[in-house]
Amino acid sequence: MAPKLSRRQFARTAAALPLTALLPRAVFGASSASKKAAVHVDEVIGTVRPELHSHFAEHLGSCVYGGIWVGRKSPIPNIDGYRRDAVNYLKELGVPVLRWPGGCFADDYHWRDGVGPAEKRPKRVNINWGNYTEDNSFGTHEFIGFCKLIGAQPYLAANVGTGSPHEMRDWMEYCNYPSGSTLSDERAANGSPEPFAVRYWGVGNELWGCGGNFTPEAAAAEYRRFATFAKNFGDTRMYLVGCGPSGDDVRWTRGFMDTVQQRGPVPNGYSMHYYEGGSMQPTRFTPEAMNQQFIIFPRVEQSLIHQRTLLDGYDPGRRMGLILDEWGVWDQIPQADERKNGRLWQQSSMRSAVAAGLGLNIFNRQADKLYMCNIAQMVNVLQSVLLTDGPEGKNTVRTSTYWAFMLFKPHRGNTSVRVEADGMELPQAGRGGRGPQPPEVPELSISASKAAGQLVVSLVNPRHDTDMQVECTIHGGGYKTARGQMVHDADWNAFNSFDQPERIGVKPLEAALENGKLRVTLPALSVATVALQA
Ligand code: AHR
Repeated sequence: MAPKLSRRQFARTAAALPLTALLPRAVFGASSASKKAAVHVDEVIGTVRPELHSHFAEHLGSCVYGGIWVGRKSPIPNIDGYRRDAVNYLKELGVPVLRWPGGCFADDYHWRDGVGPAEKRPKRVNINWGNYTEDNSFGTHEFIGFCKLIGAQPYLAANVGTGSPHEMRDWMEYCNYPSGSTLSDERAANGSPEPFAVRYWGVGNELWGCGGNFTPEAAAAEYRRFATFAKNFGDTRMYLVGCGPSGDDVRWTRGFMDTVQQRGPVPNGYSMHYYEGGSMQPTRFTPEAMNQQFIIFPRVEQSLIHQRTLLDGYDPGRRMGLILDEWGVWDQIPQADERKNGRLWQQSSMRSAVAAGLGLNIFNRQADKLYMCNIAQMVNVLQSVLLTDGPEGKNTVRTSTYWAFMLFKPHRGNTSVRVEADGMELPQAGRGGRGPQPPEVPELSISASKAAGQLVVSLVNPRHDTDMQVECTIHGGGYKTARGQMVHDADWNAFNSFDQPERIGVKPLEAALENGKLRVTLPALSVATVALQA
């Protein structure tokens, strides 16, 4: 979980700040800086897998209950119990893969509790997220139904902590075996004769923490035991994900991989988590706190490179996919918001949109090293793309993060190509290494991808006090036209509220293309995408 500041630390940080730091930049105006960048169209990195824009939904706060699922009898407009606005907005955004049911919840979840007639399902206590009573009215069938509605591939996190290999293999058979076994016939009797064809299966979640506090060696031994009984039931080829580290934990990856390689099946994928902690409340950030959060992103990028390098030592052919199945900003959440709207209910501000853009640019640049990334979480929890006004709330807003994701949608399926920009060098892995040190302030961030006759360039200006005049040289491609769009607000604390649901959205950005030079002015705090056509 993300490190949290105590109330005292929080008060100290805020008290130490000058008044100017507490006021929006618009009051003082921004300075301007020229930035040089380059795109090398013929230097290919890899495919931007649509899965890099995937999501995560946990039984936590009002993510599932109230956010996704309101129930068939709810006065909130719904499609068979699913919040109608959420379905429509998510369909428009496109969700490649959705991970469920946790998170920490997964290692205390027993799938049988969530199948069969809803009124007969047992009530359990959600020990991870506030000891509320979980009535299991949203279970496997409801989850798969939701994935079908929004067009997402399901990714189930199986229970290692309090579960067993038996329980996991039965869940697999229940989901994927076509017919004729007791479990597949039970699925049919519960309304789904067609198998669910679930490909992605996580073997536990955060086994170093809430998943059971295992050592890496013990977690790998558990992986081997569970994976032995995970078979392809039916035609679906299973993709098993082993539990990787929090951040760039080298000791975990070495311990896990050394043990897992000794015998038995090696995972198809290996997942790590990296949250970008925030020291302030979501809509009360100071520029300093915002910069502190933004400068975590180069470390995230370095960690992905480093973890991939470690994995390459075990798997030089890169058959094992590196997955970042929890990421996003985790701020200091006001208790009043949590009490009203559910645990970890977090507003998404202009700052959050910039953070999303920094992350998505990294995934493009490191496309050859990544298999899937899942923002945490889909609705009402942490850096969500949708917010509702509590579990009973009628309103559904698309957050600033939703719009940042929308700007990156044109990259999906394209081929990522090499870019350069002033100040975009990465810090060295580990401590005390030579080479570039972590930057003091966030710098221009860029990524690019190409498809037939088209180049898509995304740029993020994370500075609150500087407009950036960017001259980007496009090497190759022979593009003729450029069309830009951006998400921008001068106030980093601005957000889409239920009264003003469209304050932050996508607007046009002027882009000029002449003699292979793309010129744009990125206002302070903006995320932009420019589409170039041949
Ligand atoms: O996303 C919230 C929590 O963060 C998840 O349950 C857990 O996996 C992580 O620590």
